[in-house]
Amino acid sequence: MADLRWYKIEEEIPEGDFIRQINIAGKKLCLLRHHQELYLVQNTCPHAGGTLSGGWCEHGKLICPIHRYAYDLTTGRGAEGQGDYIYIYPLKQEPDGLYAGFKRGLFSRFFGK
Ligand code: FES
Repeated sequence: MADLRWYKIEEEIPEGDFIRQINIAGKKLCLLRHHQELYLVQNTCPHAGGTLSGGWCEHGKLICPIHRYAYDLTTGRGAEGQGDYIYIYPLKQEPDGLYAGFKRGLFSRFFGK
């Protein structure tokens, strides 16, 4: 993970299961907890641009609210036959809060650093 830059998530993290859009330096992402596990994923559905944070989780998968395509929360892979995937950002808990990891190239694109 040496090629990652870690960015602190400043938003309050609710207890229990939730799904919501968060902004990290102006970039909209989807933060959720499912089965006690936190995930940070892209917020735009790769199928046709639906907002994934308006969806829900079932059996370890994130479901897009528009056409109900399903994405595995561990691998990001779309369900069989979809042939697509979502990007899952690494998270780490530190004593002062939750951090999201961005690949350096991606980080520069988002944050210009
Ligand atoms: S836009 Fe998400 S399933 Fe079609």
